[in-house]
Amino acid sequence: ALPEQVKIVEVGPRDGLQNEKVIVPTDVKIQLIDMLSEAGLPVIEATSFVSPKWVPQMADQVEVMRGICRQPGVVYPVLTPNLKGFQAAVKAGADEVAIFGAASELFSKKNINCSVEESLQRFEEVTQAAKAAGVRVRGYVSCVLGCPYEGQVSPHKVAQVAKRLYTMGCYEISLGDTIGVGTPGSMQAMLAAVSKEVPVDSLAVHCHDTYGQALANILIALQMGVRVVDASVAGLGGCPYAQGASGNVATEDVVYMLHGLGIHTGVDLQKLMDAGAFICRSLNRRTSSKVAQASCRL
Ligand code: HMG
Ligand code: MG
Repeated sequence: ALPEQVKIVEVGPRDGLQNEKVIVPTDVKIQLIDMLSEAGLPVIEATSFVSPKWVPQMADQVEVMRGICRQPGVVYPVLTPNLKGFQAAVKAGADEVAIFGAASELFSKKNINCSVEESLQRFEEVTQAAKAAGVRVRGYVSCVLGCPYEGQVSPHKVAQVAKRLYTMGCYEISLGDTIGVGTPGSMQAMLAAVSKEVPVDSLAVHCHDTYGQALANILIALQMGVRVVDASVAGLGGCPYAQGASGNVATEDVVYMLHGLGIHTGVDLQKLMDAGAFICRSLNRRTSSKVAQASCRL
């Protein structure tokens, strides 16, 4: 049975923009986030507190946090890879952070410069500090359906990392198909393994759309009880440490599908499309959202 309601986590301002070669002006990022808030998104990942040498595009994280107009009821999480990032995020007013691990050793090394085990120790420090500060922590597992460096990733490994993040206090675990290679078949097998270790109502799916499978993967996740879906407006994005990976599934397309299924999201599709048009104009880029491209308006 499908859920009555799904929470959409908008990751465009972070996952979408982190990969842009040309530095996006801070005021454009702020306006994008404000337009997404206006569109009714309940969670908007705003930026990352990571090293500016590693991801120059996110170097204006403090100004972004200061500039956005926070809507009551909307959560604005930020990525924090370590205690240093966590402390800077809290200082900048973050009320929720996300730690990001991986089910693949080589990806972990390339993305955050440490092994999976070392990363979990760093995350432990973050979750402890977060508990003390009353800050909620979301956990990511990357490469859950394949790795750009290791190829196949076993569902068992994904389940182990997800369980560790959940046990250390993450209220939600987002399962990332970082390079968008999964199919409904591999998604089903992975979710079956992970749901044995983490309650399915604490899971989210985070699908990139490289192979055009994202909506199908999301649908099967919903059928298996997942109620939280990550998406990126206009289908922007990709990870700078996962070459060739395309953007996340477009939020517009997810909203269109969910509303078509009679599932509530609280999102106003027209306002969301306005936000997508705004950021595409600013980046001088064509949208990756099929719904936004469609010229026959219903
Ligand atoms: P490192 O070089 O091993 O770090 O990087 P270090 O501890 O040795 O420190 C080196 C320098 O970085 C020092 O500065 C530190 O102060 C500084 P220096 O003395 O050279 O001037 N530093 C920091 N600066 C700002 N904020 C911090 C921070 N920590 C240390 N938090 C590190 C390790 C984790 C910092 C680095 O690898 C990094 O920043 N990686 C982030 C990579 C990233 O953001 N990737 C994209 C997000 S993940 C993703 O997209 C996947 C996801 O969407 C899910 C999916 O699709 O699967 C989430
Ligand atoms: Mg991602």
